[in-house]
Amino acid sequence: MASTKYELRERDDNNIPSSTTSKPCLNLQLIRKFRQYPIHSGIIVALSIIILVALITCITVFTRGRTSPTTLSLSTLTTTTTTTTTTTTTTTTTTTTVTMTTSTLTTQTTSSCNKFMKQMNYSTGAGSYPHSVSVVDIDQDGNIDIVVANKGTNNIGIFYNKGDAKFDTQVTYHTGNKPYYVSTGDFDGDRKVDIAVANSESNNVGIFMNMGNRTFASQVTYRTGPVPTSIAIADIDQDGNVDIIVPHSGSEGIGILYNLGNGTFKDIVVYFSGFEPYSVAVMDIDGDNRSDIIVANSGDNDISVLISQDNRTFADPVRYPVGEEPVSLFVIDVNDDERADILVANRESSNIGILMNNGNRTFAAQVTYPTNAKPYFITAADLNYDKKIDILVANQHSSSIGIFYNKGNGVFDKQVTYPDGVSPESLAVADLNKNNKLDIIAANADSDRVAVLLDECV
Ligand SMILES: *[C@@H]1O[C@H](CO)[C@@H](O)[C@H](O)[C@H]1NC(C)=O
Ligand SMILES: *[C@@H]1O[C@H](CO)[C@@H](O)[C@H](O)[C@H]1NC(C)=O
Ligand SMILES: *[C@@H]1O[C@H](CO)[C@@H](O)[C@H](O)[C@H]1NC(C)=O
Ligand SMILES: *[C@@H]1O[C@H](CO)[C@@H](O)[C@H](O)[C@H]1NC(C)=O
Ligand SMILES: *[C@@H]1O[C@H](CO)[C@@H](O)[C@H](O)[C@H]1NC(C)=O
Ligand SMILES: *[C@@H]1O[C@H](CO)[C@@H](O)[C@H](O)[C@H]1NC(C)=O
Repeated sequence: MASTKYELRERDDNNIPSSTTSKPCLNLQLIRKFRQYPIHSGIIVALSIIILVALITCITVFTRGRTSPTTLSLSTLTTTTTTTTTTTTTTTTTTTTVTMTTSTLTTQTTSSCNKFMKQMNYSTGAGSYPHSVSVVDIDQDGNIDIVVANKGTNNIGIFYNKGDAKFDTQVTYHTGNKPYYVSTGDFDGDRKVDIAVANSESNNVGIFMNMGNRTFASQVTYRTGPVPTSIAIADIDQDGNVDIIVPHSGSEGIGILYNLGNGTFKDIVVYFSGFEPYSVAVMDIDGDNRSDIIVANSGDNDISVLISQDNRTFADPVRYPVGEEPVSLFVIDVNDDERADILVANRESSNIGILMNNGNRTFAAQVTYPTNAKPYFITAADLNYDKKIDILVANQHSSSIGIFYNKGNGVFDKQVTYPDGVSPESLAVADLNKNNKLDIIAANADSDRVAVLLDECV
């Protein structure tokens, strides 16, 4: 295996050619002239100052106008201009592996227009306590719709998008007790999006089949272990049908419901993961084209990785310590090495952890970034369209949404927060109004509302 050596070179300010050598001379001349012709020199000095000021103003306006044309006209809301150093890496393949690094200074403006500032609220009903949100085009009209799990009123609510990110009132369907998580997938292969719900107090998963025509059949349930709190959907056995994976947070295992192909499922198959597994994700983490399972064990303060083996069973979990009470995880490549990394929300520690994929079926120790009080949900998307994955967290106890922008190589800026309704417990990201910008959807449990935060920057 060829190893690449990286040598990051700092910008060397000493090497910048100096253009200030003539200055002392000029000053001396000026002083001499001033002594000879005090009045004329005074005018010259004043004119010089005016020209200098005009020049600086010109340069400032020109620079700003070039990097962000909208900054000047649309700065009604908080306009923060951050300057970041972008590192461009060029690899030259010569006899020895040499990496050349060039640094360029670029100016990047964040929130220079109405990005996530206007919040629209949609009621999920009194006492509904919406706990989970999922986004998908349910009625195949080309607009992304919203599905919520209302754990207080034991139903799911569907908000159909009228096309402009405006939503009708929710259409509800009964679930089991305390639906904790909602997700979607085509379970019966009819190319219509079906809904799966983790009924945490009924110890089952409810499947709602999409009948088309904006209607769903009532739920068909499949037994799980105690207290299913999350759902991952993936074709685990590669038979062409999506399967369902749930953590049993009332025990120490995760369960797999294998799809028989027509949207009915086999009895659950259970694997040990760790104490109080709360969140689960499925991703090929070792590049063998098979789905591996990643679990956040909230009671053991660690992450379990279950690698898929040749005979389609899973190996015993390999465990990685994280912060206190990891309740949510998301798996995605954040450092552009084409390997899936693990993002985790450590609720009690009020931080997020990032575990980089080492590329040999192991992960590096977590690197943490502080959040506001009690991050409860974590997800990721490229929110500023720089082809780098950014991280979003729902800060449950501080009623805010935190965004960590990726500076490159999986290193993140400190959190930028947006106020949200009371106690956000779930987030989703999608373009709701077809302006090619990603909007944020939040389930705000204590305000019985779903919030939509639009990116209206153009
Ligand atoms: C379903 O579609 C049929 C016709 O295709 C229509 O008559 C019926 O009202 C629709 N039902 C609902 C609930 O929209
Ligand atoms: C689904 O497929 C399985 C296995 O082929 C079969 O036993 C079952 O009856 C089917 N169920 C339905 C509702 O079609
Ligand atoms: C995985 O799938 C990709 C694309 O189908 C293929 O190029 C690659 O060789 C596969 N890798 C393995 C280990 O099977
Ligand atoms: C699957 O493979 C693993 C490792 O090769 C082995 O330990 C396990 O017993 C196998 N399981 C079955 C059901 O064949
Ligand atoms: C995997 O890679 C990491 C980082 O390069 C290294 O520290 C570790 O020893 C490797 N582990 C194995 C089992 O090869
Ligand atoms: C939605 O709720 C938030 C928080 O309660 C509030 O600040 C915002 O003004 C509301 N939006 C609208 C359009 O009423």
